[in-house]
Parts: sequence; structure tokens; C-alpha cells
Amino acid sequence: MPKAAAAANLMLCLFLLVLTFFEISTADNYVRPPPRQTLHFDFRSKSSSKLPQQVHISLAGNNYMRVSWVTTDKSSPSTVEYGKSPGEYSSIAEGETTSYKYLFYKSGTIHHSVIGPLEPNSIYYYRCGGQGPEFQLKTPPSKFPITFAVAGDMGQTGWTKSTLDHIGQCNYDVHMLPGDLSYANYLQHRWDSFGELVQPLASARPWMVTEGNHEEESIPLLKDGFESYNARWKMPFEESGSSSNLYYSFEVAGVHAIMLGSYADYEEDSDQYSWLKADLLKVDRKRTPWLLALFHVPWYNSNTAHQREGDRMMSAMEPLLYAAGADIVLAGHVHAYERSKRVYQGKSDPCGAVHITIGDGGNQEGLANKYKDPVPEWSVFREASFGHGELKMVNSSHAFWSWHRNDDDEPVRSDQVWITSLVSSGCVDMKNYELKEKLVAP
Ligand SMILES: *[C@@H]1O[C@H](CO)[C@@H](O)[C@H](O)[C@H]1NC(C)=O
Repeated sequence: MPKAAAAANLMLCLFLLVLTFFEISTADNYVRPPPRQTLHFDFRSKSSSKLPQQVHISLAGNNYMRVSWVTTDKSSPSTVEYGKSPGEYSSIAEGETTSYKYLFYKSGTIHHSVIGPLEPNSIYYYRCGGQGPEFQLKTPPSKFPITFAVAGDMGQTGWTKSTLDHIGQCNYDVHMLPGDLSYANYLQHRWDSFGELVQPLASARPWMVTEGNHEEESIPLLKDGFESYNARWKMPFEESGSSSNLYYSFEVAGVHAIMLGSYADYEEDSDQYSWLKADLLKVDRKRTPWLLALFHVPWYNSNTAHQREGDRMMSAMEPLLYAAGADIVLAGHVHAYERSKRVYQGKSDPCGAVHITIGDGGNQEGLANKYKDPVPEWSVFREASFGHGELKMVNSSHAFWSWHRNDDDEPVRSDQVWITSLVSSGCVDMKNYELKEKLVAP
């Protein structure tokens, strides 16, 4: 590289570093609370009912939404009636059903119906299966600003409830969950109780989830993994050209989000790897200036829990995300919060992604509060507390991230930072040549 270009590059890097990490952090003497009990739910009272349970919605392609619910009665129809005024349903959609058996457990009938086209940023009223209560949802906006709520490793304890209550108080458009939903841990009725616990939020805003280790529930010779998860939490994988519910992507209001699978093959000869390459090549940064990725096992983690578990996936896939200019990577798995600088290959890099671990939604296993010493150069903020994150894409160049601790049941904002997009900082253009080379090469 000519000297002048190298110097200009260095100046740009320094400038970006300063710009990107203009931040305010607080670190006080905080006494960490213990885990809380798993909540108790009584499900027997609902046996053989046509009433919809566990209603949740998810984005299903541009201007479409998938409505999913469970009935214990088999004959209940998979229809969703919907419209823009309460009690007046001008449209109706017909869906599909599935169910599964797991040892002595038999699931209810699981319904999935896609509704739309829907207008952006609008309230719709809807009813599932022709009866039962009316639900209300809000579609995401079609342009900036858009706000995501983020919480991973949820479970169903008193702390989960606290996290959900705090998310419910925030003004957001889409919930993103980087793995570990119910902590059913093979007890299938806990998938039902989790569905009931999250219904008030998940029936009102789309929940976009990817799988964690607690979704696997495989039994050698008897059960492949992810049966319950795939049946209940169907995500738009077909809509995004993927052949597996374990990885997919979606686009909403200027954001392309890639939901990867830490528990699907990711090596260079895998389907997931080929799909990721193809998906990244389809990204148009004029349409979606922000590129996000979510998966369960973090690549940048300085907690002693789950050390280096993400290394193999990272060495396979980090070069692709870097070449494409991924802005922010969100992971779970470690029950604590950590935020990095922009990093690549273990070192800070102004054109790398900001990595955030947010596996502290409130599960019964409690917090992971041992950290490696000294703090790695790339780690900016780390703390073992329950909480949730909010990511507001303000415009094509600026996003505001904040992490809210469930401090004594009050959502305290504990970490916050403005993040500037790689598109606005010139990284994506600079890497265009490298991107094509990396992505198109066989
Ligand atoms: C984007 O938002 C930031 C933060 O509010 C603001 O400073 C900046 O001027 C905005 N950029 C444009 C092009 O509107």
C-alpha cells in the first residue's frame, strides 16, 4: 500500500475509534442478587380446550407476520381473523398445524398462520381459531428509527418475569432472543408454561429467536434435537432461503439481521456456511445500512464460564461477517453482560463488529460472576447481573445501545453507547474488494 494511503487509513482508524466509543459507563458497588425460583403454572385446568394458548408472533417476510398458538383441542381451525379496528376483522388467513410426541408427553395442536400484507407501524387486532380473546399487535416501522429489545437465556423464574416486565415498559418494535428460551430441559410441559409466560409480550411484538443448547433436548437413538423448538418457534427460514429453522435472516426498517445457529454445522463445507455466504451477498447496504448477527455461543467472552466454546464457529464464520461488514453481534449462553470494542480476530479493529453478550434474561441457573484477569484489551464493560438490552437504530449512521439491569425490580440503565455504522464510517466501501473475493470464491 502506498505510504500516503496507509497514513490516511491509520488516521481514519483512529478517528473511527474515537467516534465509535464515545460512551458513558457506570461501575458502582453493586450487590448481586441470588437466582429466583422457577415460577409455578397450573395447566391441567386448560385440558381439551379450543381456546388459543401461548400466542406469539414473528416476522415472516416483508409486511407479513406469522401468528403461532397452541390448542389442546385437535379440531380447532388454524384461522386468524384480523383488522385495524377492535372486533372488526376485515381479513382472514388460514394456516397449518403440527404436533409432536416426546416420550410420555403429547403436545397440543400447534398452529402457524401467516397474515398480511400488513401496513407498517400500525396496530392490528386479531383472534385465533375463531374464538377466545382478542389480541393486539403492532407492526414494525418501514424506516428508521426502529428499536429492538434483546434478552437471551430467559427461562421462567421470578427474574425472567422481572426482565419481561421491564421490556414491557419500553417502547420497542421487535424482540430478539439469542438462544435458550424455556429451559424446559426435557420436561415438555415447561415449553407450554414458557409460552404462557411470554404471551403478553410475544403476542404484541414479533419475537425473533435462534436456538441455544437448552433447545436441543436430544436423546441418543430416540430423539433428534430441537423437535419441540422447531415445532413451536417456527422462524422465517423458508422466507430467507434457508433449509433449516436453526438459521435464517430477516430484514426490517433498514436492518438486515442474520440469526445463526451455534448448534447447526458451521464449517466451510456445511449448509449453514453456504447459506450465510449467499445471504450476505444478497444484502444491499443502501436498503439495509445496518448488518446485525445473533447466535448463542459468544465469540468474545472474558467470563470464565463457557471459555472458548465459540472458537470453532468463530474461525469458520468471523471472516465472512467481517468481509460483509457486520456492525453488531449479539450472543447469549454466558449468564452475564459484556460489551466489546469493534474487534476482529481477537484484536480491536475499527472495521470489525461490536460484540455483546447478553445471556442474563433470568434463568434458574443464576449468574456467571467470575471473570478473567486482566481484562482483555477488547472488553469495554462486563458485569454479571440480570437484565435486558435496547438497541435503537436512529438512522443509517447512528444507533444507541443500552443495557438495563433488573436492579431491585427497577430497570436501571447500567451501560450505554452510541455506535456508528460501518457504512457511514467507510469500512464497507473500503472492504468491498475483499468482500467479493471472500464471498464469491468457491
Ligand atoms: C443521525 O442521528 C444522529 C444522532 O441523533 C445525529 O447526530 C445525526 O445528525 C443523524 N444523521 C442524519 C443524517 O440525520
